[in-house]
Amino acid sequence: MRFYNSSLFVPFALWIHHASAAGRPVFFFTLFPTSTTELRDQLISRMDNISHWSCTNEVGVTKYALVVPRGGGDNLTAYSIEQYDDDATFNKHLAADVVSGTLFNWSRNTPNLWAKDPVVQNFTVLDGQNFVKPEFAKAADPYIVIEALTYAQGGVHHVLEHWEEEVAASQKESGTLLFGLYTDPVDESKLWTLAAYESAEYLTNIHAKSPTASDLEKHTKGMRTSLKTTLLQKRGGFLYKGSPSCA
Ligand SMILES: *[C@@H]1O[C@H](CO)[C@@H](O)[C@H](O)[C@H]1NC(C)=O
Ligand SMILES: *[C@@H]1O[C@H](CO)[C@@H](O)[C@H](O)[C@H]1NC(C)=O
Ligand SMILES: *[C@@H]1O[C@H](CO)[C@@H](O)[C@H](O)[C@H]1NC(C)=O
Ligand SMILES: *[C@@H]1O[C@H](CO)[C@@H](O)[C@H](O)[C@H]1NC(C)=O
Repeated sequence: MRFYNSSLFVPFALWIHHASAAGRPVFFFTLFPTSTTELRDQLISRMDNISHWSCTNEVGVTKYALVVPRGGGDNLTAYSIEQYDDDATFNKHLAADVVSGTLFNWSRNTPNLWAKDPVVQNFTVLDGQNFVKPEFAKAADPYIVIEALTYAQGGVHHVLEHWEEEVAASQKESGTLLFGLYTDPVDESKLWTLAAYESAEYLTNIHAKSPTASDLEKHTKGMRTSLKTTLLQKRGGFLYKGSPSCA
């Protein structure tokens, strides 16, 4: 059995093989570098179609969103943001006819779909460090931000409590609609955040200026060795599952 293409088969197969932590949620952020905008949009449309099916049929799929870089400067890249309640849910999703049949057959049979191999990254979902609010469903264009951070050796352990305070404070902010903290399953220097705000202005003028955000910066900046921010716009699928349409 092959998924997407042979290079993607490797990480998925490894995951299935090594999946042992039953009951733990799994989070994937996948980069799809397509060769034309038309093919990118076809991929998004096909995965959006799967998200509708998943929304009604797969209880344990809690996020399945398709996003693109904001601003229009990059019209070839798509990303998926996926979260599954546990490994069994993920395996079942991969084996579903709409995924292993319809989607993977299409990707296999579409010449030059990829400009480069897709890159699958998986993360550890930290208990209690995730929220998504019903207001997410009402936001016209949620301002989605992924941050990839690295900290000096052992740093994630030292900064985690400050980040947890940030999650708790963010939950009280009306315009911060979603927030999650993730660690890397093998690299202890890495921390990831996924956030969505009602607007860019809310992020800049309210969230980033909060006392907790200032404290976080003050206490963690010295240990931070890199920070990469990716600004994203939702094009399909769902990040919040509270409404029948899976916003
Ligand atoms: C998860 O990530 C680790 C490295 O970060 C890798 O060894 C493992 O194969 C990945 N699993 C999947 C399913 O991508
Ligand atoms: C769309 O999803 C339905 C299942 O809801 C599936 O039967 C159909 O093949 C899908 N179409 C495409 C183009 O992926
Ligand atoms: C994609 O972006 C490139 C470079 O900015 C531009 O030349 C091209 O017209 C765009 N294509 C589409 C279909 O938007
Ligand atoms: C996918 O391709 C396989 C092998 O060619 C075929 O047996 C299967 O029916 C296809 N599935 C779908 C849903 O198109």
